[in-house]
Amino acid sequence: SAAEKGGYDYFMLKEIAEQPKAVADTLLGRIDVAGNLTLDEVRIPASVLREVDKVVIVACGTAYHAGMIAKYAIEHWTRIPCETELASEFRYRDPILDPRTLVIAISQSGETMDTLMALRHAREQGAKVLAICNTNGSTIPRESDAVLYTHAGPEVAVASTKAFLTQLVACYLVALYLGQVRGTKWGDEIQSVIRELSEIGTQVEQVLETMEPVRELARTLANKNTVLFLGRHVGFPVALEGALKLKELAYMHAEGFAAGELKHGPIALIEEDLPVVVVVPSPRGRSVLHDKIVSNIQEIRARGARTIVIAERGDETVAPYADHLIEIPATPTLLQPLVATVPLQVFACELATARGNEVDQPRNLAKSVTVE
Ligand code: AGP
Repeated sequence: SAAEKGGYDYFMLKEIAEQPKAVADTLLGRIDVAGNLTLDEVRIPASVLREVDKVVIVACGTAYHAGMIAKYAIEHWTRIPCETELASEFRYRDPILDPRTLVIAISQSGETMDTLMALRHAREQGAKVLAICNTNGSTIPRESDAVLYTHAGPEVAVASTKAFLTQLVACYLVALYLGQVRGTKWGDEIQSVIRELSEIGTQVEQVLETMEPVRELARTLANKNTVLFLGRHVGFPVALEGALKLKELAYMHAEGFAAGELKHGPIALIEEDLPVVVVVPSPRGRSVLHDKIVSNIQEIRARGARTIVIAERGDETVAPYADHLIEIPATPTLLQPLVATVPLQVFACELATARGNEVDQPRNLAKSVTVE
């Protein structure tokens, strides 16, 4: 009913708007006044976490994209090797697991069969499993050694939005916590990222307030056949997520690429007026990556692409190459997906509406996939 949708036309719009609160709720009570993480609820003793020598993340769809981003954070802050794998592929390749492996299973519903089978396989091999889940008491957390709940609240729309942002927050918390208990050399950075993370809800709010041009742009693209998405580093999984949202909602051909792969094939797809969304890393910090992506944008634009650029506010080097510029607030590099994903959700939702599609219940899809 309209009341359940809180005055919005679709649950998806309501859930996109709820993201600042979902993010804040997921952080609540997990950072103490001194700026340290308190994840006592994660019932894996610090002594066990100190011995972990490998992290393996398993998930599907949007949750898998959160897991891809988590890999960058975990390896950078903890120096523990981490791999992220599609849950549906995991057990069939006979993965190497032992009691020093920490497996993280990410799932909004907690009922996804592929993810459940992956975690069962991991536990049979003696690995410890930590679930990141949005649904209290669901099967995946029940069968795991420990759980860190995301506090997105119920997500009704089939296309995941607020659950994704809270999965990212939970992944950052786990990565930072592992760094904290293991005392890595990134101690200072960890402290400052924890501070920035605790303010991130405000930045997500700022993004939501500036989405009208994104909606206008989406409406002008309603009769396109293809949209491509490019990113590097954590912007690559963001590109994949932008493409997945567009497939699910707008039923359009959409593909995400790592921008560095362009020259290895995908650049052949570029033609006159093809919309290409590019997620640009911050010009501060990892500026090598920034320069490389700016040259990628120049390359595709020279071949006629219509560039839709998501970049940090005040990034002057990229602006001249953007046919459409979508500005997002400055964040630490690893946290950028929390703000960069939001315009892509709005973009896909508006394109779906413009194409007359059912936003909350896309064809052929179910909210939770309980078959393998
Ligand atoms: C996201 O928009 C999807 N509908 C889908 O990819 C989803 O993320 C995936 O099926 C995993 O679901 P889960 O988080 O409930 O395990």
